[in-house]
Amino acid sequence: MAWCTAQVDWRTWRVYRKFRKFRTMGVSGSSATGLSDRGKGRGRVYANITETVGNTPCVKISDAICPQGRTIYAKLEYFNPLSSVKDRLACAIIEDAEKTGKLKPGDTVIEATSGNTGIAVAMMCAQRGYKCVITMAEPFSIERRKLMRFLGAKVIITPKAGKGSGMVAKARELAEKHGWFLCRQFENEANAQFHYDTTGQEILNDFAGMKLDYYVLGYGTGGTFSGAGKALKEKRPDIKICLGEPADAPLVASGQKSERNPDGSATGSHPAFKPHPIQGWTPDFIPLITEAGIASTGYDEFVPIPGDGAIQMSQQLAKSEGIFTGISGGASMYAAVEMAKKAPEGSVLLAMLADTGERYLSTPLFASISADMNPEELEISKSTPSFQL
Ligand SMILES: Cc1ncc(COP(=O)(O)O)c(C=O)c1O
Repeated sequence: MAWCTAQVDWRTWRVYRKFRKFRTMGVSGSSATGLSDRGKGRGRVYANITETVGNTPCVKISDAICPQGRTIYAKLEYFNPLSSVKDRLACAIIEDAEKTGKLKPGDTVIEATSGNTGIAVAMMCAQRGYKCVITMAEPFSIERRKLMRFLGAKVIITPKAGKGSGMVAKARELAEKHGWFLCRQFENEANAQFHYDTTGQEILNDFAGMKLDYYVLGYGTGGTFSGAGKALKEKRPDIKICLGEPADAPLVASGQKSERNPDGSATGSHPAFKPHPIQGWTPDFIPLITEAGIASTGYDEFVPIPGDGAIQMSQQLAKSEGIFTGISGGASMYAAVEMAKKAPEGSVLLAMLADTGERYLSTPLFASISADMNPEELEISKSTPSFQL
């Protein structure tokens, strides 16, 4: 009898295993590990928070967003410790400055930033014991300023009229006056190199043995575009790089280069720039790193992105995928969807989602989200007798 029970159990177990495999298969063999990894941990511990930068996951987008017959993945950079792709940049620049002796214990680090870089640099400085000063133009979201101050940084606000180039000039001036280490995120080659060494290699590893036809992203400094783009093109030359840019600020699209100072920084505002809501993308000049990436690796496709399209896509990613990214993440996915519509049937695309939506609570991204109950919510509340407002 016991033998008989064992037989039945074994058969049941085999059927169960087969069913589980089917459930977890997704679109490729490698995505099966998504569920089978549960409970495994990372198999290691970390010496400090900066060691956890990178190794972000690529997640499939459902057909609620993805055009039929195509596959889109999103690389979720909000899995970084301070929730944006800029954790990589900060790690790159500080580690390089330490190695090359430009940064010594007790020094002050300064940078101009629309927010995410400042938060990431503040994290690096907090962990390493450097003092941190950030310059930031007035229009960028309040929660970003507060986050940097929370991490121990001093935040110097520059006037809106000076735009992005104003905050950059202020950082340079302060660095010269006080002898502080200036990160120079827009020109520092360590930025693109880190994306070559990490972001690009991660994608190559994650898509090993799988199809990948398009890599879709915008540019802030252009570090991701130049570095990861180079790594991908080297190993998989058939991948097409699809560059997105705000439709309101067609700097690259204009074909006109930014004028430069001898150190590679832009002399001022690009004539094609107009303010746009895609924070973190396309400052009012073409960064040196972006220009270098265009000249070396280049891009194969180009998508202009309307600001409201980026915002709506970010909202849709939250509502239909549970993917909570900022406006630039929406912009990237908007570009991926537009690209997918034109791409041959069966194409596989990967969009970079640079940060978390939580950084945009005071911006147009959340303008339609009320703190109070709407009529539908009130009706639900009134459908039972207790605890009504
Ligand atoms: C929100 C956001 N999206 C995208 C990017 C682009 O990254 P990169 O500087 O590598 O071009 C940045 C960086 O500025 C960012 O903060």
